[in-house]
Amino acid sequence: MRVLMVASELFPLVKTGGLADVTGALPRALARRGHDVRVLVPGYRGVLEGAADHGRPLPLGNPLGVGQAELVPARLPGTDTKIYVLRCPALYDRAGGPYLDPHGADWTDNHLRFALLSRVAAIIAVSGTALGWGPQVVHAHDWQAGLVSAYLQLWGQARPATVLTVHNLHFAGRFHPMLMSAVGLPHSLFSAYGVELYGALSFLKAGLYFSDRITTVSPTYARQIQTSEYGEGLQGLLSARSPHLFGILNGIDEEVWNPAKDPALPAAYDVDHLEGKAKIKAALQAELGLPVNPRAPLFGMVTRLTHQKGVDLVLGNLHFLMGTGAQLAVLGSGAAAYELGLREAARHHPHNVAFRSGYDEPLSHRIMAGADFVLVPSRFEPCGLTQMYAQRYGSLPIVRHTGGLADTVLDSWAHPHVGTGFSFVDATDWAMGNAMWRGMQAFGTPRYAELQRRAMSRDFGWGPSAALYERVYAAALNGPVHLL
Ligand code: ADP
Ligand code: GLC
Repeated sequence: MRVLMVASELFPLVKTGGLADVTGALPRALARRGHDVRVLVPGYRGVLEGAADHGRPLPLGNPLGVGQAELVPARLPGTDTKIYVLRCPALYDRAGGPYLDPHGADWTDNHLRFALLSRVAAIIAVSGTALGWGPQVVHAHDWQAGLVSAYLQLWGQARPATVLTVHNLHFAGRFHPMLMSAVGLPHSLFSAYGVELYGALSFLKAGLYFSDRITTVSPTYARQIQTSEYGEGLQGLLSARSPHLFGILNGIDEEVWNPAKDPALPAAYDVDHLEGKAKIKAALQAELGLPVNPRAPLFGMVTRLTHQKGVDLVLGNLHFLMGTGAQLAVLGSGAAAYELGLREAARHHPHNVAFRSGYDEPLSHRIMAGADFVLVPSRFEPCGLTQMYAQRYGSLPIVRHTGGLADTVLDSWAHPHVGTGFSFVDATDWAMGNAMWRGMQAFGTPRYAELQRRAMSRDFGWGPSAALYERVYAAALNGPVHLL
């Protein structure tokens, strides 16, 4: 099958979270199954600089009236994945992040930045011949690519099948309804039977409404988003579309996340040779200014610092942790209040707490490898990747039992023969503290070593999930939805 993926992040060119890891790895997993998968990505500065093998640009004119655009065919570095970089200097050539300006505010023209991405995907979808290539399936990711299916339904011509993957329902891509015409949508679509969501224009709603098939990144989250607790106001639509909604668990990139050959680590190890892991823990403790002590259980966490991720539950357990002599190493960036809380914790407890603010890919690998436990106490979690990285690196995950965390970590007390971590149900300090306490009971015992081996022996590769995406693509091709 020929598949065009459309995404606002793509590892290793641009990443703020797990979306990039998925769009970086899934095309290769599908290619291994014989599919021709290409990725359309915005031409942010870093993407244009980092993409390999730039080809001859294809001019696109001025599709939204905001600036000249062109498609630069290129290759994702370190892979054979073909990509199309959408160059539009007026929208993407600037310092700052993919969604936020250098002061941390949303770019005021995000509606245009991501409408253009979707618009160009739709143009490729119906007139791909100018590229010498046209997709049979357009696979859009998250709200940033949500408008693709709306444009294609509107144009009404022969079109490829459309699939939308929801990585996080919390981000609905909401804009003022006045912006409908700026993004090329007729006002007739501003309705509950279209792109309207509680009075706003929502790019995500558009994708959920108009795509032939919808997927999300774990089976449990697929069920949860049909309830009012997790549905973010979209549970009605999602329930109505449930015959077309599938939960497919993310895999991990087993080449990028492999403790036996990870260039970010000071030593290599695998399930049969764990000496390297102890060296990495000592090096990490030294790097972070913590006492080098193999007997102190080290809890690691690598995360966006948001309400979703339960950072407050970690802060709520500081005193309990200090009392046990454990150590905590957090790498993350995000909400100022959490950054402040963690910075203060590190200042008051320099022998027990280390906090590194910012985004640091190599350090994230060292924490996954050097920690004894990895914390993922999320309030909701569509899939979550760090709990899988942790298991592959022999660091036991401590997670809240929700979304993809529930699908990838079985509690080792409740499931003594198959469990690989510790989980808790209630989003309370006490429940999380109890799970950490249970982890510490095992630490340094043969039981810990057994769980570690079991965790490292698990297969989190993309193979089975790539096969499921293939089935969803086939279903979308065979059963398109025509609404307009
Ligand atoms: P989400 O996508 O919701 O942020 P995931 O667990 O799916 O959560 O993916 C997060 C990804 O981002 C992981 O690859 C994690 O290692 C990475 N990550 C998060 N914060 C940082 C950071 N501050 N520095 C480096 N990597 C980070
Ligand atoms: C989102 C989710 C996370 C998921 C990732 C990749 O950012 O928050 O749970 O793992 O996307 O699908």
